Amino acid sequence: MTIQWFPGHMTRARRQIQEKLKLIDIAIELLDARIPLSSRNPMIDDILSGKPRLILLNKADLADGRTTERWLAYFADQGYSSIAVDANTGTRVGEIPERAKLILRDKIERQIAKGMNPRAIRALIVGIPNVGKSTLTNRLAGRSIAATGDRPGVTKGQQWIKVGTDMELLDTPGILWPKFEDPLVGYRLAMTGAIKEQILNVEDVAFFAVKELVKRYWPALEERFGIERQPSDPDDPDEIVRVMEDIGRKRGCLVSGGRIDLEKASGIILRELRAGKFGRISLEAPNEA
Ligand code: G4P
Repeated sequence: MTIQWFPGHMTRARRQIQEKLKLIDIAIELLDARIPLSSRNPMIDDILSGKPRLILLNKADLADGRTTERWLAYFADQGYSSIAVDANTGTRVGEIPERAKLILRDKIERQIAKGMNPRAIRALIVGIPNVGKSTLTNRLAGRSIAATGDRPGVTKGQQWIKVGTDMELLDTPGILWPKFEDPLVGYRLAMTGAIKEQILNVEDVAFFAVKELVKRYWPALEERFGIERQPSDPDDPDEIVRVMEDIGRKRGCLVSGGRIDLEKASGIILRELRAGKFGRISLEAPNEA
């Protein structure tokens, strides 16, 4: 799903989330573990306005485990509880209700002290498109929930999905926009497949991807495509194009005259990157935050 975020849409998305916040005890902020900065809404603190929050680093199966550990420590330093999950297989998803209870412990204890019987914790998932909101909803529900979406002009009662006995989830997640005015963010979202290629040129995205791989994961690139010449300066565009051409040559992306079909090579690079063929890769680390 590609969403065009115009100012009016952002205002509407924000208003919809703020309406839902009135109904819930805790927000579950979903981020992509490979790009926790680029997959984060720039106004999230303002939008959630002090609501208790659990941060989930999703798609942890595709991210570099050591970098993910550093992110968990980073969020802990900022006072947030976070878990690295894989919504596709359900790894560590089962810990979410317990962790939410821990975050809301004081509130729950106050209710008990007043003689109240604490009801199930009510939660809302929020995140940018493609970060895994529906996959996580289905995983938590233990079944497939039809994507109803928030359509303008369609009023619909809020449905609560039971997650075990201690938690309930709003069926429609809060859809947020990324910080796309920063070109670096746009490229990282495109590399991971969060925004579709039609918006950005495939060769530009692949160029950016190769540059990142040369800088951060040269051994993975070298091993995958058998490239021998490591660029001495990854900031030299000519050297990056040479690596792309080497990849094209290895994969038989040739056009008449023996030239390399860079567009075809670019498609191959991005497909393999998104499918995790280079191994587990993180494109952002906490020291860049
Ligand atoms: P959304 O509701 O936030 O928009 O995201 P959604 O759940 O639709 O997930 C987007 C894509 O991300 C899906 O791939 C989904 O399978 C994948 N995904 C979600 N969670 C995880 C995870 O923890 N690990 C991995 N590896 N993938 C995950 P898709 O159906 O193939 O869509 P697409 O890739 O064609 O966009």
